[in-house]
Amino acid sequence: MIDPMDVVLVGATGAVGQEMLRVLEQRDFPVRRLRVVASPRSAGGTVTFRGQPVTLQAPSASVFEGAAVALFSAGSSIAREWGPVGAAAGCLVVDNSSAFRMDDDIPLVVPEVNGHRIPKSGGAIVANPNCSTIQMLMALKPLHDLAGLEHVVVSTYQAISGKGARAVDEFERQQRAVLEGAAPPVEILPGVLAGNLLSDWKHEPSGFSEEELKIVAESKKILELRGLRMSPTCVRVPVRNAHSQSVWARFHRPVSRAEAIACLRSAPGVVVDDRIGPGLHPQPREVSGTDDVAVGRVRQDLDDPNALSLWVVGDNLRKGAALNAVQIAERAFGVTPSTRA
Ligand SMILES: NC(=O)c1ccc[n+]([C@@H]2O[C@H](COP(=O)([O-])OP(=O)(O)OC[C@H]3O[C@@H](n4cnc5c(N)ncnc54)[C@H](OP(=O)(O)O)[C@@H]3O)[C@@H](O)[C@H]2O)c1
Repeated sequence: MIDPMDVVLVGATGAVGQEMLRVLEQRDFPVRRLRVVASPRSAGGTVTFRGQPVTLQAPSASVFEGAAVALFSAGSSIAREWGPVGAAAGCLVVDNSSAFRMDDDIPLVVPEVNGHRIPKSGGAIVANPNCSTIQMLMALKPLHDLAGLEHVVVSTYQAISGKGARAVDEFERQQRAVLEGAAPPVEILPGVLAGNLLSDWKHEPSGFSEEELKIVAESKKILELRGLRMSPTCVRVPVRNAHSQSVWARFHRPVSRAEAIACLRSAPGVVVDDRIGPGLHPQPREVSGTDDVAVGRVRQDLDDPNALSLWVVGDNLRKGAALNAVQIAERAFGVTPSTRA
C-alpha cells in the first residue's frame, strides 16, 4: 500500500476540477490532505471531497509546501505562474492547460500511449494533452503499432463542457431561450450554439483554429512522428458532454476491418462497438461519465485498402482531462487504482 499523499488541486471549482475530485474519490487515490485552489473570487468558499467540505484558497507559494502532487486545471496563465512554483516545492505538477505542452523538456503524456515519459518522482511538470488529442490517440496508437500511421484526417464534434463551466451555463441558458422564443444570450460563446454548430476557438492567419493546430502538434510530439500528415477540422456541437470524432487514417499497409477491430479490442482503455445499423454506434450520451474511449463504425476504405474510417467518442472531462491527469499521478507514484473505479 502506497503512503497517503498530500494533494493540491488548482482550478477545483471548474469543469475539469470538479471531475478531478470525483475521479480521485472513485479511484481511491490515497489522499491524506487535500488543498483546493481557485481564483481569489472563490477563496473562502468550499468544494466537497469524500462528503466533506474543503475550503478554497487563492494561489500562493505556501499552498504547495509538503505536497506530493499538484493537479492543475485553471488555464495557461495560472499554470505558467504557479506550475513552476509547485515543481520547485517538490510536487509532481500535472497541468491540463496548453502552457507547457509543446516545451521540449516537458513530457506530454497519455499513459496508455507514452507512459514511459512519466517521471518517477516529484519536482517536475507533466503536461496533459488536449482532450481531442487524447481520445484520438487512444484509438490510433494501437493501429499505428499494427500498421504504421501515414496520414490522419480528423473532424471533431466537440461538446460544450470542453469550454468550461461558464460556457456550459451559457449554452443551457441559450437552449431555454430558443425554446421560449427569446433571444439567446451570447456573452462567453462567440455565437449561438443551441440548435447550431460553431467553430469557437481562436483562429490563426492560416485559417486553422488553435484547437486544430493543437491536435496536429501534440499528436506528432506524443507519437514521436514529426512526418505524420494530419488534416483536422474542429467543430463545437450542441452536446453537453463527451466529444465525438470522425477519423480517417491511412497506414503503411492494408488493414482489414476485422484486423483493426481485433487490434482495438486488445487496447487498454478502448472499448469497441462493432454493431452495425441505424443508431448502433458509440454516442456521447452513453459515453459521458465513463472512462474508456469508445470506437465504432470501423470501416476499411472503399477505394484505399490501406485506410480505415473510425467513429471515436470519449468523455472530454474524464479521459480527456481529469482521468488522464490522475492516471499520470498514479503511474508516477506506483498507485494501483481501486477496482471500484
Ligand atoms: N473542459 C475540458 O474538457 C478540458 C479538457 C482538457 C483540458 N482542459 C483545460 O483545463 C483547464 C481548465 O478547464 P475547465 O474547462 O475546467 O475551465 P473552467 O470550468 O473555466 O474552470 C477554470 C478554473 O480555474 C480557476 N481559476 C480562474 N482564475 C484563477 C486564478 N486567478 N487563480 C486560481 N484559479 C483560477 C477557476 O476558479 P473560479 O471558479 O474561482 O473562477 C476554475 O476553478 C483549461 O486550461 C482547459 O483548456 C479542459
